[in-house]
Amino acid sequence: MSAAPTAPAATLVIFGITGDLCHRLLMPSLIHMTASKLIGDGVHVIGIGRSEGDDEWLRASFENFNAEAGGEGEEAGGDPRGERTAWKSLRPRISYLRGDMTDAETYKQLRQRFADEGTANAVFYLAMAPKFFGDAVEHLADAGLLDESAGFRRVAIEKPFGRDFLSARELNERILARATEGQIYRIDHFLGKETVQNVMTTRFANAMIEAVWNSHYIDHVQITSSETVDVGKRGGFFDANGTLRDMVPNHLFQLLAMVCMEPPNAFDAESVRNERSKVLEAVRGPDADEVAQDAVRGAYTAGEVAGRPVGDYLATPEVAAGSRTETYVALKLSVDTWRWAGVPFYLRTGKALSHRDTEIVVTFKTVPFTRFARLKHDGAATAARLPPNRLVIQLQPDEGLSIDFVAKRPGPVMDTAPVKLAFNYKDNFDLAHTTGYETLLYDILIGDQTLFQRADGIEAAWRAVQPVLDAWAAGGAPEPYTAGSAGPSAADDLMARDGRAWHRLGT
Ligand code: BG6
Repeated sequence: MSAAPTAPAATLVIFGITGDLCHRLLMPSLIHMTASKLIGDGVHVIGIGRSEGDDEWLRASFENFNAEAGGEGEEAGGDPRGERTAWKSLRPRISYLRGDMTDAETYKQLRQRFADEGTANAVFYLAMAPKFFGDAVEHLADAGLLDESAGFRRVAIEKPFGRDFLSARELNERILARATEGQIYRIDHFLGKETVQNVMTTRFANAMIEAVWNSHYIDHVQITSSETVDVGKRGGFFDANGTLRDMVPNHLFQLLAMVCMEPPNAFDAESVRNERSKVLEAVRGPDADEVAQDAVRGAYTAGEVAGRPVGDYLATPEVAAGSRTETYVALKLSVDTWRWAGVPFYLRTGKALSHRDTEIVVTFKTVPFTRFARLKHDGAATAARLPPNRLVIQLQPDEGLSIDFVAKRPGPVMDTAPVKLAFNYKDNFDLAHTTGYETLLYDILIGDQTLFQRADGIEAAWRAVQPVLDAWAAGGAPEPYTAGSAGPSAADDLMARDGRAWHRLGT
């Protein structure tokens, strides 16, 4: 990370401190941020949870977790990244408050703590079950904890934000009745990824890319987030939601917005979010009549992912018998703006697939004539078209960007060959050891909302997928695909109907 000023002193109150998110992502991020001086001694953490325990018990739980995960807490030897030192410094500033987040008493105790400790700035991080988001904000407001007269009071809300258009709108209304939009930080962790942010830089800092970034030159765009992980221990949560809700109106649409947005007037939060929201409002997903053609759902059956046996989705603990929940989605969408008129966008995402591969593939139109093909030395005329130029933005793993283009094959004959120009992030930069949450936590502390979702953007995204949610709820079932494959064949058919094919996973 490049040098950034240390964030202001604040108390970070984490609801759901004993949960997985906190152990796997938030606490490691706070350690990295301490090591890189993004936060200093003025940052205190109060963890709230229902388990019996005290400050020391909570602190030790992070050490135990790190040891089990082979993380920074207990590793033998030196401290090349300064994480052991950082943990030592952060540790005493972590404390525990036992309480039920649905009980007003917990918030009263918190207010008392703030009064005793003279807390001014505070961030309330809701890493809790989504059904409690609205209640928690109301409790915070009732206890006077959102009053900003002594310092800033911000609320970070994890996903999923609602489970459809109406519930998202209702939640926004509830929250915004008690807090201002400027106090609310709705998290989509994809926006914390360095390479996702780089999409904006790639476009707006490079004239040669932006110049051809429109329907005159672009044939179609594919956005993929393919995962090798299966549903595993998340059966209960996952079965109630499914891949469409879990990945599409949030993560994939954030990528879509980065690809499609107009250059903002400035790089401040409101200008950037205005442009992202405009895209989300222009997204047109399949309507009721188009769902059968343009939306595909799948669920994995037993197979092997990279040599690891994976059971049937339906055999996953806590998945309902006969569940119709999807673990794979492919969709064809359009973005109804001047720039993107007529350009199809194909999105796909799924679990237990052959490769982990998050990428944006922009395929350009082919050149209008086949002159080179006709010049082959044997004189044989061929109608074969040159392959199109393709820009592949690889988000994970192996972050980078490559361009497929055509070069002359050396020799006396005018022949062509497809070649690749590639830029790998790690060859050019020292990619810091980060979780992606460092940027998000830092931005909350400095009050920069650029990388967070605004109410209108969230609602627009849900609105775009609502017809698919409705059609799938009404009937039908996901198509089976074998774990370790590239997904259901219906997804290939969707592309084939348009005379196109998916970019091969893992390439
Ligand atoms: C989460 C989803 O938001 O994102 C998970 O709930 C998914 O199901 C994860 O696995 C993917 O994130 P990443 O950063 O691993 O690509």
